[in-house]
Amino acid sequence: MADVVPVPVEAKPTGTGYTITEDTTINVRDDAAVGTGEYLAELFRPATGYELPIEDGPSRGLNGGISLRLDGAPSDVGKQGYRMQVDPSGVKIRANEPAGLFAGVQTLRQLLPPAIESKTEQSVEWTVSGGYVRDYPRFNYRGAHLDVARHFFGVDAVKQYIDYLAQYKVNHLHLHLTDDQGWRIEIDSWPNLTDEGADSEVGGTPGGYYTKEEYTELVEYAQDRFITVIPEIDMPGHTGAALESYAALNCDGEKRPEDTGVNVGDTSLCIDKEVTYEFVNDVIREVAEMTPGPYLHVGGDEAHTLSDEEYETFMDRAIPMVLEHGKRPIGWHQVLGADPPTETIAQYWYPGQDAPEVAAAAEEGHEIISSPASRAYLDMNYNDQDGVGQDWAGNTSVKDSYTWDPGTFINGVDESSIMGPETALWTEFVETLDDIEYMTFPRLPAIAELGWSPASKTTWQEFKERLAAQGPRWDVLDINYYRSPQVPWSTTASSRRSSATESHG
Ligand code: ACM
Repeated sequence: MADVVPVPVEAKPTGTGYTITEDTTINVRDDAAVGTGEYLAELFRPATGYELPIEDGPSRGLNGGISLRLDGAPSDVGKQGYRMQVDPSGVKIRANEPAGLFAGVQTLRQLLPPAIESKTEQSVEWTVSGGYVRDYPRFNYRGAHLDVARHFFGVDAVKQYIDYLAQYKVNHLHLHLTDDQGWRIEIDSWPNLTDEGADSEVGGTPGGYYTKEEYTELVEYAQDRFITVIPEIDMPGHTGAALESYAALNCDGEKRPEDTGVNVGDTSLCIDKEVTYEFVNDVIREVAEMTPGPYLHVGGDEAHTLSDEEYETFMDRAIPMVLEHGKRPIGWHQVLGADPPTETIAQYWYPGQDAPEVAAAAEEGHEIISSPASRAYLDMNYNDQDGVGQDWAGNTSVKDSYTWDPGTFINGVDESSIMGPETALWTEFVETLDDIEYMTFPRLPAIAELGWSPASKTTWQEFKERLAAQGPRWDVLDINYYRSPQVPWSTTASSRRSSATESHG
């Protein structure tokens, strides 16, 4: 019980645990819990080789099996927390909502030997250590951003990323769907966006995009794991792919050339043209229609070619469109420059702790997502040797990613205004799933713990031991994690070298 990440609010080891056998059943009484029961069965069947049937009602004989119940949980575990009891008669997870049962399942997974993660049958005694857990998140919002625009990642890679988020109780996936180098989401009313704006990526390799069906497949895969997808359409800057697709969106009426480089800040939609707002409204409408979650991210960062007035003119029209189409707007914190309505959430991304405009906005009632680049940007390299990303916000060791407090990082912003932390993984130099894993592990689990666990329990000395215990699980899952020398790993295998290590030194 000592090794669970994120560390639970309360975990008391007791005596003997429960051993999963070929007779174990998964007991689910409430219809709303069946999905999580099936998820659990699918997770444990390959390695155990057991049938693990889902049964409603009492379990077979004395073997109580694993029961998932939507009653009897203490009210203080809220909508996302759970209580778990493990003794020789079985495992009982209780929660107030299905999301809590799902979180409990992620904890249960870590109470079994690492071999449980194997895709093939293993001959291991599947004993869950005995004890009692009471657990719930510090922040209801725990996010992870993934840039699929600079390099495109297909449905299977994103599903893999979603599984990684679920494992560490992260519950929002923010997809950066559009940028200068590619437009990655099908929009029926503006077909050139994907006919012309999606075929390449940084470096000139072929890109790609999600059809509406594929996007829906991702949203549903995430939903099944209690993860909300947040689509980002970055505007009015970072719009090179749209400007490449439609001449009319350019102030000079000429299509912008394809962009396969890594410059930022040199593109913008044309603020003075009415067609710009028809375009923006159509895109927001279609993206809102295919997104069941409550949020739509409008980007708003690095519109360096615009004056403050032009930027404000644009956001004064774009943000109300998001609200009209039934979504709550999020923007990178520059959006505050346009004085948007207080429903607008600002995502803070600068490296430092001083951001008076963000503090003032929080005072006015804006909620803030905390993604300081010096801590939460997973594309920053670990040090001068290790990493396939960048260093503009400084190298970010595993310890750096863990030793900050998302609730208090921004000076003058009260914790009550912070929705939660969110990692960001920009992919200018991140080209493959191996690269993604190398930059994500172990820093995403570190920040996931800061988002979930009480601040009083998040000390580096103890965390690095818990993290070390995750290594064998990642080995079984074949995750290409960075073997940081700050962490006392028990294994010494080295990471696979990543493509970008080779091409970018
Ligand atoms: C950003 O990193 N430009 C939000």
